[in-house]
Amino acid sequence: RQWIGAGNFDLLHLHEPAIPSISLLACWAAEGPMVGTFHAAAKRQKIIFAIKTNKKMVILLLGSGGREHALASKMLQSSKCSTLFVAPGNAGTAVIATNITISPTDFNALKSFAIQEKVEMLVVGPEDPLVLGIYDFFKKDSELSHIPVIGPSKVGAQLEGSKEFAKEFLVKHKIPTAAYDSFTAATVEKGCLFLETLQPPYVLKADGLAAGKGVLIIQDLEEAKTELRNMLVHAKFGNASAKVVIEEFLDGIELSCFVLTDGQQYKILPTAKDYKRIGEGDTGLNTGGMGAISPVPFVDSVLLDKIETRIVKPTVEGLQKDGIEYKGFIFIGLIIVKGEPIVIEYNVRMGDPETEVVIPRIKSDLVELFQAVANGNLNDVSLAIDQRSATTVMMVSGGYPEEYEKGKEIFGLDKMEDSLVYHAGTKIENGKLVTNGGRVLAITSFGNDFQEAIKKSYQNIDKLHFDKMYFRKDIGKDLK
Ligand code: AMP
Ligand code: GLY
Repeated sequence: RQWIGAGNFDLLHLHEPAIPSISLLACWAAEGPMVGTFHAAAKRQKIIFAIKTNKKMVILLLGSGGREHALASKMLQSSKCSTLFVAPGNAGTAVIATNITISPTDFNALKSFAIQEKVEMLVVGPEDPLVLGIYDFFKKDSELSHIPVIGPSKVGAQLEGSKEFAKEFLVKHKIPTAAYDSFTAATVEKGCLFLETLQPPYVLKADGLAAGKGVLIIQDLEEAKTELRNMLVHAKFGNASAKVVIEEFLDGIELSCFVLTDGQQYKILPTAKDYKRIGEGDTGLNTGGMGAISPVPFVDSVLLDKIETRIVKPTVEGLQKDGIEYKGFIFIGLIIVKGEPIVIEYNVRMGDPETEVVIPRIKSDLVELFQAVANGNLNDVSLAIDQRSATTVMMVSGGYPEEYEKGKEIFGLDKMEDSLVYHAGTKIENGKLVTNGGRVLAITSFGNDFQEAIKKSYQNIDKLHFDKMYFRKDIGKDLK
């Protein structure tokens, strides 16, 4: 029942049933009234009173892209968030939260800031700080260990940080994935012989983080051998290609599955499809992503069930069996071959631009979900999803993903109707909104189906302009 309580406590342990009312009154007098939910349960002689307060938190979010703007917007809808800092953020997050100029990988600066501002939760957007071990850094530091980090431990982050680690995990836990072997400079000639046993095209993957560029798909055997040597012997991707995974090529349709886990319990978030190539009809260079759609229209309940039982469950159970702490997002890249889901990669964060369609569809309180992740009781919180479709289209700087210019003034944002605008590479310069990256803005819309949603995104994009602005006009065109 509703109860007038007070104070910043969630649980009171009291021996004398007469005391709580006195304590509550005292707290009320000290801090002013607030409404909470009051539960009392008799437990032998002791009576435990739990008061669910509307405690508000100071949260620090790391990252600067469209993903972070979307996460920040959703977290700020929560009554549980009092203050949101974003490090370093962009012009979009600056409007709704407080940007701070600290790099997400400068752990010592983050520590000082977290102590100074009494941060109570750290949410990690991008992979770099996770792979560098920010979870462990906070956990092991006596001044920070009380701050929950939403993201995996350093070992868990190896699912993205090392392709070989991910493959070994998949095989060990009998999760469907492409056949593979891995090689180093010392075994490069063995790698060339292994290529000869495969059918083209050949899939070569740099083991480490290579900013999304580390996967090569090559038709010609001799060219594949040359690239293998370039990666292993000539450090084509620096240290990231000191090891290379060679994988069987899978022919199918790709989609992404997102999971939020507290390490034991999990929630499957909406599926999404992203459009990775720069050119229409999926041609040209790979990018971070040029658009996304959620849900993926061809995913039915039979396929979802296969994804859950064969992939999501064994992944979360595998983490437990291997003693890997993991409190955060798992992004599973899948290829569907003849109706069967096969894992092509794990990422240990949300996708960008997938976040810009997945997160707006979540109707539940995201901060409450994060608290449950931190407390290990995710099953106690429900996940409500907006049944409408969401689409997003990325506006990018001309030249991206190769060289491009920055500092172009952006016009037309004031004319957006019925779309959400997530900033990616933007900043304010001399009072003007200007481009500050390759991917600049994501325009997200809702519709009863994805066709209706994408139409809205394109109608609004017509009103947007910056010099050399480019976007793909075919997002969703491959789907029915
Ligand atoms: P990854 O970084 O592992 O996601 O790979 C980047 C892209 O390469 C994927 O999105 C796929 O389009 C493609 N890819 C990766 N592995 C395979 C594979 N085994 N067969 C076919 N395509 C693949
Ligand atoms: N959009 C793909 C990624 O975030 O890795």
